[in-house]
Order: sequence, then C-alpha cells, then structure tokens
Amino acid sequence: MTTEIVLRPLTFVRRGQSVTLRNVPPERTLLEVLREDLCLSATKEGCGEGDCGACTVVLGEAVGERLTYKAVNSCIRLAHSVHGMAVFTADDLAAPNGELHPAQEAMVQCHASQCGFCTPGFVMSLFGMYQNHGAKGVSREQAQVDLSGNLCRCTGYRPILEAAEKMGSLPLPSGCGVNEPATLAALQALPSRTKENAAYMRPATLAALLQQRAQFPQAQVVAGCTDVGLWVTKLHKRFERVLDVTAAEELQQVKILPDQLLIGAAVSLTDAFAALVQDRPQLKTFSQRFAGLPVRNAGTLGGNVANGSPIGDSMPLLIALGASVVLMRWQASTDGGEIVQRELPLEDLYTGYRTNVMQADELLCWIRVPKPSTALARPKPASAPLGGIEPHEVGSVGAQQFMRVYKISKRFDDDISAVCLAIQMTLQDGAVLHISIGAGGVAATPVRARQTEAALRGQTWNADTVMAAMAALRAEFKPISDMRASATYRQTVLGNLLQRFWLESQGMTSINLENTQTLEALA
Ligand code: FES
Ligand code: FES
Repeated sequence: MTTEIVLRPLTFVRRGQSVTLRNVPPERTLLEVLREDLCLSATKEGCGEGDCGACTVVLGEAVGERLTYKAVNSCIRLAHSVHGMAVFTADDLAAPNGELHPAQEAMVQCHASQCGFCTPGFVMSLFGMYQNHGAKGVSREQAQVDLSGNLCRCTGYRPILEAAEKMGSLPLPSGCGVNEPATLAALQALPSRTKENAAYMRPATLAALLQQRAQFPQAQVVAGCTDVGLWVTKLHKRFERVLDVTAAEELQQVKILPDQLLIGAAVSLTDAFAALVQDRPQLKTFSQRFAGLPVRNAGTLGGNVANGSPIGDSMPLLIALGASVVLMRWQASTDGGEIVQRELPLEDLYTGYRTNVMQADELLCWIRVPKPSTALARPKPASAPLGGIEPHEVGSVGAQQFMRVYKISKRFDDDISAVCLAIQMTLQDGAVLHISIGAGGVAATPVRARQTEAALRGQTWNADTVMAAMAALRAEFKPISDMRASATYRQTVLGNLLQRFWLESQGMTSINLENTQTLEALA
C-alpha cells in the first residue's frame, strides 16, 4: 500500500493579512518563498548559510496575549516552519506613504546605510531590537550583541551602532510599526494543521511527535534548521518528509529544579543559554559568541547536541557540566501506547562522526544539566582572590568549584570554533577532588578528556601538575588539519587553554602574550 504524502498549504501573517501558499516543498526555504514566490526582493541572499545576516527577517509568535519577536536567517529557515507566525521583512517597515520606520530613519540620519546587500539585514536586526526594547532604547553593548549576526565586508559598524542607539528616540509615523492586537487576531484566525500524513509535520505535543517519529522513521528531523538548512542550500538535499520538533509544547520549556535544569529539545539556544547563565554568569561571553543572534534565536540546544558536529560549541560545555540526555520513543500497545525513555551521559551519545546511539524511533527530548553545586553552593565574596572564575563552595566544607569554557575561532563574533575547551573542577584542600573536561574540534565527535582527568584527579593543583596535564591533554587526541586550523595548532592550543585555566584559578584576569610566559618556558 502506498501512502500519499500531503503537501499542506503554508499560511502566515504579513502586514496584518494572512498569506497562503500551496505546493511548497518541505525543503523550500523562507527566503525562496519571499523572493521567488512572493516577489519580495528587499530581503537579500548573501552567503546562504546563516553567516552574513543579509537575509534577516523577524518572526512574530503569539505567546499568550503578546507577540514575541525574533530575528532569524530566512536563507536557512524552512518555509513551513513559519506556518502560523507573523513574518516581517524589509519590504514591510515603511508606511504606505513612504515614511520610514525609526529603524530605517535612524540608519539614514546616522549615515549608516551601506550597500544593498547588508543594509536590509541590518535594518531588520534593528527592527527586532526596536520591537523587543521599544521606547526604552538600546544600549551600544546590547546593539553589539544583537547585531552579531550581521556582517559588513566593508566594516562600517560605528554608524550602525549609533543608529541602534538613536532609533528609540525617533517618532513612529502613523502607518509604521506593528498593530499587535490586529496581528494577534490575524494569527488566531489562521487555520490549524491537523492532518498527520503531511510532508512537513510539526506536531503540537510530545506524544504526537514521538508517534510520528515511530510511524515515519525516515523523515528528516529538524529543530531550528541552522545546520540542516545548509544541507539544502549548499548540498541541494531534498526531503520527502520533515519532522519538526519545535512545536511540541512540553519540549519548549526549561524546568528549573533545585539541583538541575531540564532543557527541552525545542528550547532555542538564546533561551537555553539565558537559563545556563543564570546559574553560571561566567558563561555570558561564551553564550554570546555561539554564532550570531539570528542563529541562536532559531537553533535549539537539543538540535545542536543531536546533530553531533565535532565543532558544535554546546557539547564540550555540557560534557564539562556533567549533563545527560534523555531519549524518548513511543511504545505502541493494544490500549494505545506510552512514552518510554532512557538517559545517558552526553558524551556517551556519540559513536562516530555525526553518528549516535539513537534508534530510528527515538528522539533526544531533554538535556539535564546539574546546577553548579549540590547543597552548599554559594558564591565567594567579590574580594575573593580567584578573579574571573567565580568559585563556589560545594559539597563538603572547603571544597571550591571552578568552571570555564574557552572558544578559539578566527573571528570573535559569528564564527565556528577551531577548538573549544570546557573545564569544571572541584578543589578540596588544594587537591583536585573532581574534574570534567569537554573538548570540541579535536576528534570526530565532541569528546571528554578522560585520560587528562585521570592524570589530574587527586593531584595537588600546582604548576607541576598543570604542566604534566597539559602534555597529557595534547597527547590525548589526534585532531585533523582543515581550513579552520592545523592539527599541530589544535594540539598546542589545547594545552595552552589548560594553562589559561590554571592562571585564572590563581587570580589572573587579563592574560595575553605580553604578561604571560608559558609554563614550558619557565620550566
Ligand atoms: Fe547570509 Fe542568510 S544569506 S545569513
Ligand atoms: Fe554592505 Fe559592506 S557588505 S557595505
């Protein structure tokens, strides 16, 4: 028996009106729909891989009585994933009489308008900020973070940052801006999708998601599509069916328990890192260096982990934090069926380059992250000598926990790691009581540095111990040479990052070539 696959209509709201398109293939991107099907050419294509921000649009989603706004890359966003949302593009900001939205007017007044490729993307990122921060205005620091996904090859960032600071003070002409009540009403009036045998499936509950996974194990599973989107744009992959996990209500939550966080597989990287940074403020800079904001808004932590790229940045961190993954599947029975689950340490998920232990009917549904300590967690006073590394007292009296994660990439913002190293260590009476080390970019999978951990465990935490551990860490992995870094560079950097961890544990906060000598040179 052949099962006919149904291509369901795609409907979203634009300029307060519903837009319906038929026969949109499951792998068609939102950018293709905008430019080619709707002839909305203000949204540009630069890189086609989520790197440059030329294609930035803003998605509006109804959450209760409010609209939430997220800037995303339309080039790698599958069009069907925006069914039921409001889509704002650079074609939609000015009033019908041509008066400019404050995000555009500020660009004009600050002489920030540049070439026709990058400017629409910058404007849409500014629009996203405007909707999220409104009349409160945007600080320069916030603008730098929120523009991290927009590249100008000609480097004209200063006036754009000034435009971001200025736009909140400009008047909003009538006919510009978002009529939220009307948009919410239009969203509520959209038809819901109920038919299950569709080419693009985005079920609303965990049970339905797992049942569809069991029924269609060959379907391409997606979340934010920030990697799968590149398979479409760069490798020209086509999918018969797509199973999108992001609408499953249960998986959209971060559960905060006394000793752990449970992060659902549909939680965006933006929201997942916000929860992690609450407990570990030292992760803030790293969280902002995880791609650009549009990728963090679309991508999910669960998707990053399940995808298993050896240069994915979240896994070294989660391995060091002792995270585990909860895999779920649907077990059918005569009286209907039930969800069954198993849980394993994150580092045990992977079996090789982009392969893992998951069965064809399983999905990664939750990530469990222990909180910084168990019973006795409390930050040291600000005057503590261990600057920058925020020790916590843990477990037994006198034990201190240190946590750091380091990303080495060619660009500071919006880049992929050559090497990523995360370390969590507990010291008791000057000796290493516990240590967990996660590394990325040094093997076919994200890895745990078990040999180096074993070399450090129980040892006095001093320069001699660290120097021996640096050698162990460099010898533990056999990285490859590629366009991001040579194998030798990666091995050298691994050891150097461990030395950095040691120096920071001794109170150094500004470590650079001018004020630091390697331990090897001092030996
Ligand atoms: Fe460059 Fe989309 S075209 S991020
Ligand atoms: Fe547009 Fe530089 S890329 S002005």
